[in-house]
Amino acid sequence: MRAVDIIIKKREKGELTQEEINFFVQGFVKGDIPDYQVSAWAMAVLLNGMTPQETTDLTLAMVLSGRILDLTGVVDIAVDKHSSGGVGDKTTLVVLPIVAACGLPVGKMSGRGLGFSGGTLDKMESIPGYRVDLNTDEFKRQLKEKGIVLTGQSLDLAPADGKLYSLRDVTGTVPSIPLIASSIMSKKIAAGAQAIVLDVKVGNGAFMETLDMARELSALMVQIGDLAGRKTICLLSDMNQPLGHAVGNALEVKEAIDTLKGDGPADFREHCLHVSAYMLVVGKRAKDLNEGRGMAEKAIANGSAFEKFRVLVAAQGGDVSYVDDSDRMARAKFVEVVKAPCSGFLSRVDARGVGEASVALGAGRAKKSDAVDHAVGFIIHHKVGERVEQGEPLFTIHANDERKLAEARASVLSAHIIGNAIVPPLPLFYE
Ligand code: URA
Repeated sequence: MRAVDIIIKKREKGELTQEEINFFVQGFVKGDIPDYQVSAWAMAVLLNGMTPQETTDLTLAMVLSGRILDLTGVVDIAVDKHSSGGVGDKTTLVVLPIVAACGLPVGKMSGRGLGFSGGTLDKMESIPGYRVDLNTDEFKRQLKEKGIVLTGQSLDLAPADGKLYSLRDVTGTVPSIPLIASSIMSKKIAAGAQAIVLDVKVGNGAFMETLDMARELSALMVQIGDLAGRKTICLLSDMNQPLGHAVGNALEVKEAIDTLKGDGPADFREHCLHVSAYMLVVGKRAKDLNEGRGMAEKAIANGSAFEKFRVLVAAQGGDVSYVDDSDRMARAKFVEVVKAPCSGFLSRVDARGVGEASVALGAGRAKKSDAVDHAVGFIIHHKVGERVEQGEPLFTIHANDERKLAEARASVLSAHIIGNAIVPPLPLFYE
């Protein structure tokens, strides 16, 4: 078998066999198939798609490219969550401590930024010393002792996804339903999850721009979950505007900390409570969503969720003084408040535009080897549907470079559309 023939077959819209997919994935992981061939193949998949069977085969090939974590004896039920990626999505930073504080131990392996969407690991690394490279023994020990883990994908779990994920980020091959489904599900299955809550983002700041695409991705992931014997639930949530106010690594961590302390933007808090409630139900800590939500609210109100976040940061070597005083986190050289150019109702805050502007400021990567700048990003002050008055703060830019600041000002200003007509707020969840 030759890699080039598999690429050509996919280019010609053929259906790959399980044998071909296994050959390709194994060859990539072993280093026999180079990045450029895998990139060409990923582009062929993006353009021509995959059948559900091919996607399932790809998922399982990626799971089998490494070890499968066995959490028996560590937790009584292994529950995991995953977001399909968005702008300002710092949900994990709040949901994990909430559910752990409610007595549901949760260990999660997260990823880095992907295209215009931010990555949990990049965010957590805004806290000096925080380690995202726990090995599986450390992962298990911390999960058992502290009930909370948030780390990077261990190199021995679904390594094929780890390699493919970073290639896709820089080759324009992220927004493919089969590639996203197999990427997410391979990680979750390899990480030992028995029940999985997936937050599938819908909108122009998500990889799934329409509800139909999000439904297709969700159905595929539920199907793969079923085949692998994992209970999988998908929530379809809005990503037409950034979630919360903060976009950018350290800024998002600060917003997550505020939310854990009982403040934070209303939409973001509500989103986190909803996802937490589902996790508590699938994790059998709450009998229904109402009870789960009540537990989650209480964990914020009594400080136990914030305390869990401190425990998490300390356990992974992070400097907890940055959590206690989040103003210590990296600050950008230039902080500029941009004012509303006119009065009216906000009809659009283009999430993708904001996400791309944040990557351009340095919060994300343009190529695999780029380092991220933790300090830069935006505070978006208003939500779609809100009335704004001319001259009031519309957004704040945190930048470390004057030229990039000017570019960000223009692009984020044009991401905001203010009109005379009353506009309803966007929903948080669709389904
Ligand atoms: N999140 C993932 O883990 N993988 C993708 O491909 C997209 C979002």
